[in-house]
Amino acid sequence: MSKHYENIKLESQGAITTLTIDRPKALNALNSKTLQELESALQSLDSGTRALIVTGGGEKAFVAGADISEMSSISAAQAREFAAQGHRVLMMLESLPCPTIAAVNGFALGGGCELALACDLIYASEKAKLGLPEVSLGVIPGFGGTQRLTRLVGKMRAKELIFTGGHVGAAQAKEYGLVLDVLPAEKLLEHCRTVAEKILKNGPLAISQAKRVIEFGADQDLRAANELERQGFAVLFGSEDQREGMKAFLEKRPAAFTGK
Ligand code: CAA
Repeated sequence: MSKHYENIKLESQGAITTLTIDRPKALNALNSKTLQELESALQSLDSGTRALIVTGGGEKAFVAGADISEMSSISAAQAREFAAQGHRVLMMLESLPCPTIAAVNGFALGGGCELALACDLIYASEKAKLGLPEVSLGVIPGFGGTQRLTRLVGKMRAKELIFTGGHVGAAQAKEYGLVLDVLPAEKLLEHCRTVAEKILKNGPLAISQAKRVIEFGADQDLRAANELERQGFAVLFGSEDQREGMKAFLEKRPAAFTGK
């Protein structure tokens, strides 16, 4: 965790790690170096991190998209490689065993909106603006936006947002189900930490299992998804956390979970 990065920052407070995309002069745009650093930072997280908050450096942006100056002259083959890199990194983020929270503090456009969409929970500041403006550049979203946005807000709203290429404010994004809640800018990170702390009171294995079952189950039919739930439920009965959680309830005391 002590590794030095140029375009991102990784800071831990207890079991909560905050990952900041920190390239404010380009509104935190994701160039390939930033994506590489993001990948390396995600790989470096260990079980000491039990919740991850993702946010943007500076006052203005969460992440204003993939880096347009870098993309402007690449070939179709390089574009495929760039999209594959984005998909790989965001899949890695989405697959972390711990819960992830996007603190959208400003512009979350294109790849930035896609970064937020790969997190488990999205909270936004009143200043946030979200959107997928890629068609205004003559391309389409390339870091999973066509798929994750559609799954989150439905096909028709996703088409509207993607076809128009417009930005929506935080309140409208909440109305669409694209963000959970809207906070004053100065309260956003504090709110995300409070949510993370509430999560941390619970059994870490149970949280990871719940996340896994929801993520994998969401793309399955109900029978297969319920089978995943049965397996996840059963496997937890082999854990010390299950014994401790239930014993603590019966002894009327808070549980001391160890993640074993
Ligand atoms: N890539 C590279 N640089 C970017 C950038 C991006 N996505 N977004 C902003 N910047 C740079 C600007 O070029 C500018 O740099 P200079 O100071 O060197 O000129 C700096 O950040 C500040 O930006 P603006 O001066 O434009 O700030 P503004 O307040 O006037 O506008 C904005 C803010 C509306 C977010 C505007 O910057 C903007 O529209 N940015 C592009 C948003 C976008 O189209 N994102 C999608 C990218 S494509 C993509 O993401 C593909 C994919 O799915 C993988």
